[in-house]
Amino acid sequence: MQIFIDSANVSEIKKWLEYGLIDGVTTNPSIMFNDGVYDVETGAKEIAALVEPRPVSVEVTTNDLDEMLTQARQFASWAPNIVVKIPQINQEGTPCYGVVRRLEREGIRVNATIALSLGQVMLAAKAGATYISIFAGRVADEGGDAPHFIRAAVDWLERWKYKSQIIAGSIRGVIDIQNAATAGAHIITIPPQFLNRMADHKYTRETVRQFVTDARKALEMMQRLASK
Ligand code: E4P
Repeated sequence: MQIFIDSANVSEIKKWLEYGLIDGVTTNPSIMFNDGVYDVETGAKEIAALVEPRPVSVEVTTNDLDEMLTQARQFASWAPNIVVKIPQINQEGTPCYGVVRRLEREGIRVNATIALSLGQVMLAAKAGATYISIFAGRVADEGGDAPHFIRAAVDWLERWKYKSQIIAGSIRGVIDIQNAATAGAHIITIPPQFLNRMADHKYTRETVRQFVTDARKALEMMQRLASK
């Protein structure tokens, strides 16, 4: 299983990359905006150079299908590791699978994003998407069972041998990460604050404190005995 970081914050990306823990980056227009990246081209290029050859997902920002193609080609020209996020449908409900298919045929990798149903996953896979992003938190917001959905999607892809990989996103807590992992998600994209929470445990800290304290006491004892 791979871990992506769901962020456009360069210092966070750098930190987790140096720990050797991240295999890619996902962004969307809200993440870019909230992380202070207003110039998408400059931001995407910086992140892509930092993490290459790992993939960086950058999302189109239009409802027009032709414009999606134009934007996608432009994004893909910025760096070889840029993957273009195309939504399943636009805000009017028009399917975007033709865009997915065209881009993949041109050799541009697509992350078919905002998948909230198994039906959407099936269509995105048939259109040839490299990645399909299931928004686990948003599935749960509507009363859906995200782990069950992820498991069903992964099983279906494997059963029929589609190349698409499931990215579980929209993570709202560490439990969502664990649930997505045990449900078999190929990739989980995690916001930096939850990577920190995943690592942390009160009792681990306490145990380390105990060991360090006892090691210091042992050293003092050794020095005391040696000076006698
Ligand atoms: C994933 O690729 C998305 O960028 C992200 O996880 C969306 O999550 P949200 O529901 O917090 O907007």
